[in-house]
Amino acid sequence: MTRAVGILGLGHYVPEKIITNTDMEKIVETSDEWITERTGIKQRHIAAPEEATSDLAYNAAVEALKDAGVAPEELDLVIVGTASSDYIFPSTACLVQARLGAKNAAAFDLAAGCSGFVYSLAVASQMVKSGLYNKILIIGAETLSRIMNWTDRNTCVLFGDGAGAAVVGEVEEGYGVLGIDMGADGNGGKFLLQPAGGSRNPASEETVAAKDHTIHMNGQEVFKFAIQIMGKTAKRALAKANMKPEELDMLFPHQANYRIITSAAKRLKLPMDKVWVNVDKYANTSAASIPIALCEAQKAGALKKGDNIILDGFGAGLTWAAIVLKWSK
Ligand code: ACO
Repeated sequence: MTRAVGILGLGHYVPEKIITNTDMEKIVETSDEWITERTGIKQRHIAAPEEATSDLAYNAAVEALKDAGVAPEELDLVIVGTASSDYIFPSTACLVQARLGAKNAAAFDLAAGCSGFVYSLAVASQMVKSGLYNKILIIGAETLSRIMNWTDRNTCVLFGDGAGAAVVGEVEEGYGVLGIDMGADGNGGKFLLQPAGGSRNPASEETVAAKDHTIHMNGQEVFKFAIQIMGKTAKRALAKANMKPEELDMLFPHQANYRIITSAAKRLKLPMDKVWVNVDKYANTSAASIPIALCEAQKAGALKKGDNIILDGFGAGLTWAAIVLKWSK
């Protein structure tokens, strides 16, 4: 008999400092009206100078372990989905593993842009299902504010900092992960990238002067990709779960833009009261957006045992992933 695998506990953390759209008007030529109309974003949380991605990840992880009733020593693996790691190496997952005292856990980062958390859940669930591991901590964590070009209004208004974490383990039969779809189209990598700092363009005076260590994005190409892929990947994951969209109780989409979210809901013919939206409060926190939304929903009492939910993400790579779960808590 195969093992049923799901989420045992959730946690999230966002930095204290909030920058509103009105604050952004003082930084770049923009307006609250433009940002609200085009994106649905009203504010974003920004990390304190001494906070890095592993700090946000650690705070979310502590809450998730408590919620799951799991001790750090019980963890077999820590995976951090991130596009803004503390260092290129060592991995952020290793930093979190050390700080938690998860001394029996392996650790690695997973690079799939904003799809990082859903990719991590796909990997973790199969490792538990196979019997290789019993308890895995997965975290989506970002300090995108550190790799943003604060003079580029096309990008700097869109992103925020935060972290969300989940403990993955065995659940009651019939619950947990029911269907997974993942994909990538590397040809679209050029539409969303941090051009410098890696082996292609190592740091130099020129790369720093050109602000090539920040997020470069072709917003319209990413937008076109997002609106078609979110519906497609969700439908594929639902088919694998042998479920129809109308059987879903809640959609947890990647929180990049309200217009992208409503278009995904429309393609699945879901009313907006079945869609978790918090892009207004946090902006796009990349790999952290879906676990923050999940954790918020749990805290609000919006997740009941037996609910059918879907996580639906897309991001840099380009990548996409959707996972259907029957909520087991
Ligand atoms: N304030 C005011 N005006 C602005 C701003 C701003 N912050 N940013 C752009 N504009 C201007 C542009 O310069 C342009 O002016 P022009 O017509 O004079 O040239 C005008 O607004 C319209 O720009 P568009 O790019 O056509 O605006 P659009 O409606 O496409 O919205 C947006 C732009 C919000 C970026 C949209 O394309 C989008 O959301 N794309 C997806 C982005 C995304 O989700 N990226 C991340 C996904 S993956 C991940 O999460 C890592």
